[in-house]
Amino acid sequence: MVARDPHRFSNELDETAVERIAARLESRAQDDVFARLLDQYVARLSLPPKARVLEVGCGTGVVLRSLARRSDFTGTAIGVDQCRPFLDIASTLAQAEGFGDRLTFQVGDAHKLDFRSGSFDIVVAHTLISHVTAPIAVMSEMARLVRPGGIVVVFDGDYASLTYAYPDHSFGQRMDAALANSTFNNPRIMRDLPRLLPGLDLELDAAWGEAVVEIGQASYFKSFAETYVPYVKKSGMLPEQSIEAWHREQRQAMDNGTFFAACNYYTYLARRV
Ligand SMILES: C[S@@+](CC[C@H](N)C(=O)[O-])C[C@H]1O[C@@H](n2cnc3c(N)ncnc32)[C@H](O)[C@@H]1O
Repeated sequence: MVARDPHRFSNELDETAVERIAARLESRAQDDVFARLLDQYVARLSLPPKARVLEVGCGTGVVLRSLARRSDFTGTAIGVDQCRPFLDIASTLAQAEGFGDRLTFQVGDAHKLDFRSGSFDIVVAHTLISHVTAPIAVMSEMARLVRPGGIVVVFDGDYASLTYAYPDHSFGQRMDAALANSTFNNPRIMRDLPRLLPGLDLELDAAWGEAVVEIGQASYFKSFAETYVPYVKKSGMLPEQSIEAWHREQRQAMDNGTFFAACNYYTYLARRV
């Protein structure tokens, strides 16, 4: 068996997996640590009147709902995703918050989208680029769709930095790597992007990084492990019993207040030349 990023193949997930991942997308959006990272760039985006915004890989619509809550957002936004069930949830949640007329959602593949070049002021990819089949093709599609002077936002983790504490350091390292490689098709793409942007006619306007760290208690990394350990097992990269022992140890550390895990996340705002 080989590692198979569930988000990359989200259009092939069964109902249980869709429910589990949709629940995680919504729960991490409520998580203080992760919500702060999203709020940070949403608050900073300069929105022209009647702004046209596109989010590629929008999932259940967390980012666009956050944008629509800004009182100065008077425009419209489209969310595209390859997983129709996520979009159904996104539409329902947007309508429930009263954003149904300004947020719309449609099926599409981020590698090749059916919109006119330069038709958006802002194009966002929030934890998409680490999952896609061809990240540079997706970035160049985002650069094509934003107008000259418009902004491409890329937010994602550098999953080579993902780490959980584990007493057996050697196995812990292998488990960190297995989690990164079975969950993310491109675990190191964020460290490569600054070098690649100029070739895509994108100029870095602002960039910053944050470590998501949970010590003692866990919420973000608890749900991360619950959601993705099954994919490490399926990948066959490590013996199942050792994976289970690792997971038991993590749960115990959460119960005892002795937990530790961390990962770096980066935000890039790039202007279309
Ligand atoms: C980690 S989720 C992020 C969802 C949302 N941006 C958020 O932060 O809540 C990645 C999303 O990208 C979508 N996705 C993956 N590959 C895609 C592709 N080639 N085209 C469109 N969507 C894709 C998945 O279906 C999933 O909804």
